[in-house]
Amino acid sequence: MPFLVIIVLIAATVTIIVLLQTSARRRRTITQLNVQLAEKAQAVAAWQRRQGLLFSSNPCPMWIYDCQTLRFLEVNDAAVKAYGYSQEEFLAMTLVEIRPEEDVPILLESVRQRHDGYSAVGVWRHRHKDGSIIFVEIMAFKFENAGHQEELILSMNVTERCRVEAALRESEASLKALVDNAPFGISQSLIDGNRIKTLNPALRKMLGDYSVEEALQLNISEQVYADPKDRDRLIEVLRRSGRIQGWETTFRGRDGSLVPVRITGSLSGGEDGTPEVFSAYVEDMTQQSALEQQVRQVQKLEAVGRLAGGMAHDFNNVLVVIKLSTELMLGQITPESPFSKTLLQISNAADRAAALTRQMLAFGRQQMMQPRIINLNTVVSETTQMLRRVIGEDIQLVTNLSETIENSRLDPDQVAQVILNLAVNARDAMPQGGTLHLETSTVDLDETYTKDHPPVQPGRYVMLSVSDTGTGIDKSILPRIFDPFFTTKELGKGTGLGLSIVYGIVKQSGGYVWVYSEPGHGTTFKLYFPTTTASPRRLTFREAFVRPAGQALLVVEDDANIRSNVCQCLQQLGYQASQADSAAAALRVCEELQGKIDLVITDLVMAGKSGNELATDLAERYPGIRVLFMSGYTEDSAARREILLRNSPFLQKPFSVADLAKAVQDTLASTTVMPV
Ligand SMILES: Nc1ncnc2c1ncn2[C@@H]1O[C@H](COP(=O)(O)OP(=O)(O)OP(=O)(O)O)[C@@H](O)[C@H]1O
Ligand SMILES: [Mg+2]
Repeated sequence: MPFLVIIVLIAATVTIIVLLQTSARRRRTITQLNVQLAEKAQAVAAWQRRQGLLFSSNPCPMWIYDCQTLRFLEVNDAAVKAYGYSQEEFLAMTLVEIRPEEDVPILLESVRQRHDGYSAVGVWRHRHKDGSIIFVEIMAFKFENAGHQEELILSMNVTERCRVEAALRESEASLKALVDNAPFGISQSLIDGNRIKTLNPALRKMLGDYSVEEALQLNISEQVYADPKDRDRLIEVLRRSGRIQGWETTFRGRDGSLVPVRITGSLSGGEDGTPEVFSAYVEDMTQQSALEQQVRQVQKLEAVGRLAGGMAHDFNNVLVVIKLSTELMLGQITPESPFSKTLLQISNAADRAAALTRQMLAFGRQQMMQPRIINLNTVVSETTQMLRRVIGEDIQLVTNLSETIENSRLDPDQVAQVILNLAVNARDAMPQGGTLHLETSTVDLDETYTKDHPPVQPGRYVMLSVSDTGTGIDKSILPRIFDPFFTTKELGKGTGLGLSIVYGIVKQSGGYVWVYSEPGHGTTFKLYFPTTTASPRRLTFREAFVRPAGQALLVVEDDANIRSNVCQCLQQLGYQASQADSAAAALRVCEELQGKIDLVITDLVMAGKSGNELATDLAERYPGIRVLFMSGYTEDSAARREILLRNSPFLQKPFSVADLAKAVQDTLASTTVMPV
């Protein structure tokens, strides 16, 4: 028993010990759990504090709002600072109140469409408490809280970025406008791709009005350059020097027409495998080329004119001899003489040759013009009689002369010749008949006009226009019609001098000529002559022909044949004629005759002293002496001008005996003497 008791006691003791141990362990475990729980609670509190700080102290304005009511539920300090409202004010407001009114509908729509979780809502306009607008970029996170849909909003102020972007857009737009409105072509093209990358409207127009899409598809070498090799050469230069300046080449327009252009530009890219881009500025040179062509035309005509003038000079001297010799011989024989017919033929041939030289001189602008103050209408009216005969019955002549036309200083004979040449051309252009229109008016050519029509100077002009309804002139030959000897008429029908003479006369008169023509419809020539305020001098009746009463005349001429011819003629006319081969010899003769000379007839251009200088010397020594100048042509334009200015008597070579007789008689009868 005691053993059993002992065992029981031992078992009880062990049990008690085990129980005690278990309870201690349990207590320890509970304590540990409590510690852990406390730690966890601490961690949660720290986490919550951090989360709270993350929201409230975040430098980015943030808020949470109720998606249903749009009411602000929580707002951080940054939002308070950024929008100007206090926390309390915010919490009494809804989202709508920080939006400009006009943005509210799209705000509501945006809120409605937002899904759970994160979304980037884009850039919005918000309103500050002071009413100013700020641009904000919004990010949102939608979640559910206690059965409510709420959304956390992050609002970043991007006003400055938006302002810079807007400024950039504006500057891009104004640059684009600058490029789009540039009067010259601007483009960027890919060197290797042979394609245009961008181009402005001016370049599209230059190339023949391609659309942008079409232009970007063009093969530059083949479809833009008239000669593809030109582009290769340009690229070669670009690669060598990086840029080109004023490179002249020709583009081919959409319709195949050629456009002369000048290109300036530079090359960029090409490093690290980037494409090479050629940025180019392209000037359309069409107008300038036309102007240059006109200047070349003027220069060419002037050179040919000088040549023609020089030839005419020598030719005239020969003609004077032929003309006067035949007339002298004719004066010696009776009309029944067997030589009479032949001599007359020679005389007529000399007249025809003289007419030809006159034309050459007129064309070369070397003719001795005898301009007067005239009214162009008078010449046109006087010429129309003759015109009617020239143009025939199938062509109607219509004149439209402005009554208020101003005067000009012109040689009426030359103007008549101009009208005649133009009318003959018009007639030839209207073989089936038509209308020839002559019109005069006074016009003011302003700088806008003269800029496009060099070398015209601004001013007041009398305009004579001669229009026909004929065949017109083909564009291809238009630049050549004023060329001497240019004709489209068959052999024997035209010499090609008509228009070059017109040109010469108009230029010599200080005027301009322009032609407008439309093939199949007709041609208009417009001539402009400078106006003058002076009035025409009234012509006095010529003194009745007086038979020479043996006045003493002195012929000064270095060409022996002409000299003796003229003396012979004068003697036959009843004058006493002495002769001298130079100015010095003439002064000696005058001295010998003690100045008893009524008239000195002198050539203008002589070796040694000129006729003009002789006249001055004579006037000094023998006041009252009369001088008659004769000349075929003179390069000495100063002398010519002086004679014209003094209105001195002048006899154009070649002349007939009758011309000589009349000139001598007129000079002797005139009261004009050489001024000292
Ligand atoms: N009114 C016109 N209509 C059509 N073509 C014209 C007209 N005027 C001139 N032309 C053209 O210009 C060319 C040159 O004219 P221009 O008067 O110089 O010489 P031409 O008439 O041929 O010969 P010429 O006048 O010496 O008899 C003419 O051949 C003609 O082709
Ligand atoms: Mg002609």
